[in-house]
Amino acid sequence: MQKEIVVSGIRSTGFLHLGNYFGAIHNYLKMQEDYNCYFFVADFHSLTTHPDPKDLKQSVFRVAAENIASGLDPEKVALYAQTDVPEIPELYLLMNMLAYKGELEKVPTFKDKVRLSPDNVNAGLLTYPVLMAADILIHRAVKVPVGKDQEQHLEMARNFANRFNTRYNIDLFPEPHVFRFDNNTVKIMSLDGNGKMSKSENQNATIYLNDEDEVIRKKIMKAKTDSGPAEPNAEMPDYIQNLFDLMKLVAPADTYEHFKSSYDSCNIRYGDFKKQLAEDMVNFVAPIRTRAQDLQKDEAQLQRILKLGAEKARASAAKTLSEARKAIGINYY
Ligand code: TYM
Repeated sequence: MQKEIVVSGIRSTGFLHLGNYFGAIHNYLKMQEDYNCYFFVADFHSLTTHPDPKDLKQSVFRVAAENIASGLDPEKVALYAQTDVPEIPELYLLMNMLAYKGELEKVPTFKDKVRLSPDNVNAGLLTYPVLMAADILIHRAVKVPVGKDQEQHLEMARNFANRFNTRYNIDLFPEPHVFRFDNNTVKIMSLDGNGKMSKSENQNATIYLNDEDEVIRKKIMKAKTDSGPAEPNAEMPDYIQNLFDLMKLVAPADTYEHFKSSYDSCNIRYGDFKKQLAEDMVNFVAPIRTRAQDLQKDEAQLQRILKLGAEKARASAAKTLSEARKAIGINYY
């Protein structure tokens, strides 16, 4: 039986954090065994904010290294840089003809960017979801492991896929859907309780896969808490829920149960809770950090891995692109 096709990407803008890990990479690791996986560093997407050319390569290599250090096996999946697959920008161009200004302007992530950086509302930002659709459709993927913040983009990718199929009367692109093993897309919140954990906003409330042990401890000890539940079995405010969610992800089950029942019986001491969470988090992050640092020292090895990934990705991408061109009528010779 043919394996289902999976695509996902992470922008090369800054260090990866727990949101990237639990929103995306955690699922990559489970999927690499049973699916035909294409995972990439979204370096074209990072250009919307004009990173310094001096930093670009290092950022791309770091994201690749952090993926591998987290357990991704470049032998089992295609791990590549988006800019190494020229079929993607060509499909993006073709898809742009079917994407409308009105729908792109309504995308919440676009509106956020306009609000945050009104001096840099470039066309790349506006058409960001079209490039993302091209990333996915170029391999005709059906499953896309991403966090909750990307759901809207996936909906647009489905629209573009269907629009292309309808316009050219062809069944070329299947509908891609968000995928998670437990059927529940995660959102890891910032430790200060304000919005999601992100690469750029409030670095003190974000735990990076590159953080040293002491930094992790400090950040967790500073995480937002309150005076504790007022009555037994009280509902958790979302910033407390987030800490419990993190504990569930990195600590042994009985540790989680212990603190959950002390919360439910109003006996919780947040100091002890956070100390325990900090230790479990250090145990979780430290091996990834060390492996990623070692990998980044071996540039030749990372280059080999990315080249191999690009070869695999281009083989699949070329087939789709050729069919898309044919469907449009670009077959002159
Ligand atoms: P990016 O680089 O912002 O994030 C990479 C992945 O991490 C997830 N994520 C989170 N999940 C849970 N909680 C959080 N706080 C959190 N922060 C980030 C994201 O959902 C994502 O899965 N547009 C994409 C990159 C991309 C892509 C694609 C993804 C480009 N083309 C094609 C899938 C398919 C992005 O900016 O992700």
